[in-house]
Amino acid sequence: MVNKITVVGAGNVGATTAQRIAEKELARTVVMVDIADGIPQGKGLDQWESAPIELFDSRVIGTTGYEETAGSDIVVITAGIPRKPGMSRDDLLNTNAGIVGAVAAEVAKTSPKAILIIVSNPLDVMCYVAMKVSGFPRERVIGMAGILDTARFRSFIAEKLDVSVRDIQAMVLGGHGDTMVPLISYTSISGIPITQFLSKEELEPLVVRARNGGGEIVKYLKTGSAYYAPSSGAVQMVEAIVNDQKRILPCAAWLEGEYGMKGLFLGVPVKLGRKGMEKVVEIALSADEQAALAKSADAVREPMSVVKL
Ligand code: LAC
Repeated sequence: MVNKITVVGAGNVGATTAQRIAEKELARTVVMVDIADGIPQGKGLDQWESAPIELFDSRVIGTTGYEETAGSDIVVITAGIPRKPGMSRDDLLNTNAGIVGAVAAEVAKTSPKAILIIVSNPLDVMCYVAMKVSGFPRERVIGMAGILDTARFRSFIAEKLDVSVRDIQAMVLGGHGDTMVPLISYTSISGIPITQFLSKEELEPLVVRARNGGGEIVKYLKTGSAYYAPSSGAVQMVEAIVNDQKRILPCAAWLEGEYGMKGLFLGVPVKLGRKGMEKVVEIALSADEQAALAKSADAVREPMSVVKL
């Protein structure tokens, strides 16, 4: 475990993330911060009171200020407004850029060595805002989206074939939006190519459903977006970093020439360890996949160019 992990935002994503981190004992202290006075304190205390039953020694506290977060090893940023039905993630752009920018500035002051994991939407652009404002190197600013998008795709395949989710490997790359790129050629069941189980025609609806997975949940919830699976994704990244697991996971990373692109965050396979994003892993893509990734990059560059910093 590390000494301290902060989760910014005590809404559904933030609170679920904090509870999962505590239950896995990934930090001695888990600090939840939110501007809505009473919410982080109440939820933090409630979580801490679950410790004697769940049997974890992580101490959870909630606060509205950043003093308690000082010297955090990892900061997960979930702050921002969520989508309502009919909204795209890009509709959240300027509101959340202001929020994430303000948070990143506080964190840079109080936890200058922290690794930032960004969850706020629109994800890829919020990573850019956090990196710009904090001034942190790319190794220490990583976005959570690919794990979530991949988990959705894996869960749909498991359901379709009635096999364990454990045995399904997949990789969804690109921006966290409608242009994300599920890679069929890297999808397998216990190493057996998925195409030996499902035809292209059978796979297509699963790809489409994964792409629209966030929207499907928003439509059901009406007043907010998904949080169980998003928090699971964030915590998998935290765990990989805390335990120096060197896991290869799809995350939003700042590209510096990899995949022939630079100057933007995009979902790609990365190696996660104690130093954060330790490497962008470059894999061979078909011409179609490379074209789809380039299209997805354009869909990230557009909101990025209009964001006010
Ligand atoms: C989703 C939101 C959180 O994909 O982006 O569910």
